Amino acid sequence: MKNPKTILVTGGAGFVGGHLVEALLARGYRVVCLDLFTYAGSLEHLAPAMAAHRHQLVDRLWPAKLLRKKSTKLFIVRGDINDGATLTALLAGCDGVMALAAETHVDYCYHTPGTFVRANINGVHSVLEAVRNEGKGKRLLQVSTDEVCGERRSGRSAESAALRPHNIYAATKACGELLVRAYADVFGLDVVMVRPCNLIGPRQQPKDLIPKTFSYLLHGRKMTIHGDGRHVREYLYVRDAVEMMIEVFERGKKGETYNLSSQIGRSTLQVVQAVARSLGLRAREQMTFVADRPNPDHRYASSHGKIRKLLGRRWRLTPFLEVISLMRDDFIARNPPPLI
Ligand SMILES: NC(=O)c1ccc[n+]([C@@H]2O[C@H](COP(=O)([O-])OP(=O)(O)OC[C@H]3O[C@@H](n4cnc5c(N)ncnc54)[C@H](O)[C@@H]3O)[C@@H](O)[C@H]2O)c1
Repeated sequence: MKNPKTILVTGGAGFVGGHLVEALLARGYRVVCLDLFTYAGSLEHLAPAMAAHRHQLVDRLWPAKLLRKKSTKLFIVRGDINDGATLTALLAGCDGVMALAAETHVDYCYHTPGTFVRANINGVHSVLEAVRNEGKGKRLLQVSTDEVCGERRSGRSAESAALRPHNIYAATKACGELLVRAYADVFGLDVVMVRPCNLIGPRQQPKDLIPKTFSYLLHGRKMTIHGDGRHVREYLYVRDAVEMMIEVFERGKKGETYNLSSQIGRSTLQVVQAVARSLGLRAREQMTFVADRPNPDHRYASSHGKIRKLLGRRWRLTPFLEVISLMRDDFIARNPPPLI
């Protein structure tokens, strides 16, 4: 890139954020990553990007002059999206925002719903205020989730489907979407949104289904399956998804939302079976069944026609079993401690 653009990525030290930062840098962007480093944020997620590019860690209020160092490609700032002053100062030096920062682990929203409201509603509001005050004309990509449309017993949710969130995480993400839309309408902000399905890949959060299954099986434990294990989700390789996010950020139509999905549903049982087989284990002997979560959604399904059209010939989905192999190799190489 001749005059590289600088993108502010919130939540860049999370699972998806780490892959997005890496992909942006590979495309020639400079990146300012703002992350609170909650339990979910880690420099491990940014390790490949840090190894490949000149970077700087910043643990204080952003001095704008730092950005003048053109040779530095990645700035990693510890900070809260709810801190409007920091956000506004950062945005002044950036050309756009990709907003991923959120509380994301659905299991935790039953115990600490307030943290989800703070990050996913108040935090989105804070980002919107910064864009409104400092970033007018700068594009905002808001990363939402397919869960905002709630359960589909049959068929698929298009982008125009009604928001019917069923759990507190999804409800806070839906509120975030509504705020983004309202700010775009009222203040004319340049926003685009994506709603990914379940994203999977190396360095995924340890308590998500696939890493958890690897952890349990490799430590000789049986994987716990909630309910009957027949809940269906769609899965997409995180590297494919972040390329789609960049495409939407660069070329998506102002004001539009794009589902990011594989359109291939898999039950929990099928996913655990695939992990067990990748380790050469007999799946049936590796599972134990426990009570279901409160108010579970049985099936999420969203249509991907719109993003497919945007990508055209660049549309590519890495096969699920190939991603499982990548994750197995990554897991064995990193050898994380057992889960409690
Ligand atoms: N992983 C998926 O399967 C998936 C699917 C659909 C949508 N999404 C969305 O994608 C985004 C990223 O998801 P993820 O899986 O990488 O999540 P993650 O939990 O791995 O990472 C979230 C990051 O946000 C940071 N964060 C939390 N609160 C913050 C705050 N107040 N200020 C600054 N940073 C804060 C955390 O420290 C962490 O680094 C989220 O918005 C999520 O809703 C993820």
